[in-house]
Amino acid sequence: MCGIIGCVGRGERTLDTLVDGLERLEYRGYDSAGITLLGDDLGVRKTAGKIADLETLLDERPVDGHIGIGHTRWSTHGPPTDANAHPHQDCTGDVAVVHNGIIENYQSLRDDLSAEGHTFTSDTDTEVVPHLIERGLEMGDSPEAAFRNAIAQLDGSYAIAAIVGNEEAVFAARNDSPLVIGIGDGTASSDREYFLASDVPAFREYTDKVIYVEDGEFARLDSELAVTDSDDQPVDKEVHSIEWDAEETGKSGYDHYMLKEIHEQPRALRQCLSGRVDELAGTVNLDGLSDRSPSSVQFVAMGTSYHAALYGTHLFQQAGIPAQAFHASEYATATPPTGDALVIGITQSGETADTLSALREARSRGAETIAVTNTVGSTADRECDETLLIRSGPEIGVAASKTFTGQLAALNLLALATVESARTRRGVVPELRELPGRVQSILDDSNAAEIAEEYHDSESFFFIGRRYQYPVALEGALKLKEISYEHAEGFSAGDLKHGPLALVDEDTPVFAMVTGDDEVARKTVGNIKEVEARDAPVVAVTDGRSDAALYADHVLEVPETIPRAAAVLTNVQLQLVAYHVANLLGRPIDKPRNLAKSVTVE
Ligand code: G6P
Repeated sequence: MCGIIGCVGRGERTLDTLVDGLERLEYRGYDSAGITLLGDDLGVRKTAGKIADLETLLDERPVDGHIGIGHTRWSTHGPPTDANAHPHQDCTGDVAVVHNGIIENYQSLRDDLSAEGHTFTSDTDTEVVPHLIERGLEMGDSPEAAFRNAIAQLDGSYAIAAIVGNEEAVFAARNDSPLVIGIGDGTASSDREYFLASDVPAFREYTDKVIYVEDGEFARLDSELAVTDSDDQPVDKEVHSIEWDAEETGKSGYDHYMLKEIHEQPRALRQCLSGRVDELAGTVNLDGLSDRSPSSVQFVAMGTSYHAALYGTHLFQQAGIPAQAFHASEYATATPPTGDALVIGITQSGETADTLSALREARSRGAETIAVTNTVGSTADRECDETLLIRSGPEIGVAASKTFTGQLAALNLLALATVESARTRRGVVPELRELPGRVQSILDDSNAAEIAEEYHDSESFFFIGRRYQYPVALEGALKLKEISYEHAEGFSAGDLKHGPLALVDEDTPVFAMVTGDDEVARKTVGNIKEVEARDAPVVAVTDGRSDAALYADHVLEVPETIPRAAAVLTNVQLQLVAYHVANLLGRPIDKPRNLAKSVTVE
């Protein structure tokens, strides 16, 4: 997490470019922020709080310059204070560094540097970097050599940008943390402008041309761009074009990014399916992915993506393929994949450290890996053997919404293209095709706001579901707790009476997902009766084909479809409930406390 930004060649727009970029990166962390500009000297401004607090500071104490770097922080080492905010500096004040990641050997480096007389002013791991650069400069290194030599001493994960001495350049390096460079057309005052960031939205309004920095590479941005490897040899980098617009990262009139992203789901689904399904032929084409026939599947993922992974296990198991979902952080204890096993990492950002680490583990065990991700050029995309893009478009709200929907759709495509029968495809493809319209009808007609009004001050919220609706129950609870800070739990409906039922009373609304009228639905209706008998208010999220509504206090309706597609629909209703509860409670929905969208530390 943490967001870093840098730019050169922007002339007098440098400061605005950095601050705008930080606002667009704020989803990565937002407990403190800072910038450095190189003008006549090196000006650093930083503060605890959000980017808005940094802007207030900049109004009070302006700073000027034409080359700069900036940072928005999600604390790992040391609390969010002014002193711990980035950029960090050396003893002379001539070096400034911003960093995303964790430097694992910082304590021993700090001990050595302190023994040599360097003075530290923060609790961060990052602060060793400017002091290492200072040490190099004292030993006669050029600014670039001092930067390279400092990086060579670091263990851990990092994307680092630095300004060193009066050198008119931004230096950058990465290992295990994202770093992308934007190539702009230049301004009146310069031939070329270059941007550096943790993620493309930070500078997308200025350019669609990017290059992705790889682990072990160094970049030097001045009037030219140079990327070199660890032996200082030039690297010929491919320039990629970004296919989405800057407007897609704005709020478009919605009060929150999350609400906008919930409403973008019909389009996100269309994009995911586009060109991949042929309804007439009943086929699914995922190019290079279609010819796989795995003997088993292991999913690795975290957070919301883990719920998509659980959903994915049902898809593959239904097709007779053994499938397991692991929290990526627990994958080390998994039975090693064998034979034609596929290991599928689900990660919207493509940068979640736990998921990347599990995928590397799988590769080291000889398994073929697939990334299911929303982020072209992300580490997962680049490191896995194959990538299935979910094509949801940029998601800014920290709590995942449209990307979860995109993951469910993409997993359907993957199962249909690889292991499911032609007969299944003919039944499922038309239902997938109808999903965007059905999601739209929920968005148009949902009464989730009224349900939220009725229950937003409840003690606890429970969510229950079976089969495809079980991951939805978990996701519904996660969404609510992430953005409302209220206690919420999801259970497999059958497990409720094996303990959690003891917690149910008249102040515990239970949301039950019941679609269809089969055995599964009937059993869940039985579970509804159990909680109703304990006076708990029941909200049935249902297509009306079972008796669920008879025993429920409220109903959230979803259109009829097949069970696997119904999970997408019920989840949309739960997203809206979570959103409205959080809104009524006045929570900062897009940036919940303590969370970050992209968690790049294990
Ligand atoms: C963070 C986010 C969650 C997300 C999880 C996994 O914790 O706050 O919303 O589900 O990371 O992210 P990924 O990018 O791997 O899907």
